[in-house]
Amino acid sequence: MFSPRGPSLRELTVQALSSVERGYDLLAPKFDHTPFRTPASVLDATVEALSGLGPFEAGLDVCCGTGAGLTVLEPLCEGRRTGVDFSAGMLAQARAAHPGATLVRADARALPFADGFDLAVSFGALGHFLPAERPALFDGIRRALRPGGLFALVVGVPPPLTSPAHWVTLGFDVVMRVRNAVWRPPFVMYYRTSPIPALRADLTAAGFTVRSAPLPVAARVLDGGPRFELLLARKPAAAP
Ligand SMILES: C[S@@+](CC[C@H](N)C(=O)[O-])C[C@H]1O[C@@H](n2cnc3c(N)ncnc32)[C@H](O)[C@@H]1O
Repeated sequence: MFSPRGPSLRELTVQALSSVERGYDLLAPKFDHTPFRTPASVLDATVEALSGLGPFEAGLDVCCGTGAGLTVLEPLCEGRRTGVDFSAGMLAQARAAHPGATLVRADARALPFADGFDLAVSFGALGHFLPAERPALFDGIRRALRPGGLFALVVGVPPPLTSPAHWVTLGFDVVMRVRNAVWRPPFVMYYRTSPIPALRADLTAAGFTVRSAPLPVAARVLDGGPRFELLLARKPAAAP
């Protein structure tokens, strides 16, 4: 799972005992060599799925990390591209990889944008938000979009109960709950707190019109690996 250029077990342990923000600051230089970075096959499939829904001017990558979503915005958005994340370390990596993008350090639960973006995307970060935090996250994204703007959210489809992945993600969440019960600061990262029906309900409550479609990802990933769904949440157009 980890390449030789990825973090050592000791580094991962130190990171997991830190806060989310500090953990990603520490992980940032090696993040792209971990399985936590959204793979190119998922990014490519997202570009393909969104390319018929444009044209888009300004684009926003929420919880951009080292810039996975910025690579999706590049071919889709004719205007400025912005990434937002609260880890200064991850933003420094994104800045080096995407010199043409604007990188903003902010907490996604209090996004500092209003009505400026045609397209927002987010990859691989939902597990860092407790269900009670999703309304603030989704409200901020809706506020950041222009009327009629689109929020595209890629989510993993839960693995079948009989698959090893089901038990690995369940075990991971149990370990994190124990860790967070006995250790401060907390590191919020759970695989199983963002079921698709709950996400759809929260997006709808935030004022989006939501539809979803399976994301056709290249066979190499699907072959026994995770499956993905694309949630398309549209901010209503302004009243005439
Ligand atoms: C697993 S990484 C995903 C990075 C990138 N989107 C990708 O798919 O490769 C999660 C990212 O979410 C960021 N993050 C987590 N909670 C956040 C919050 N409340 N506000 C802003 N960024 C947050 C982390 O700093 C980290 O860069």
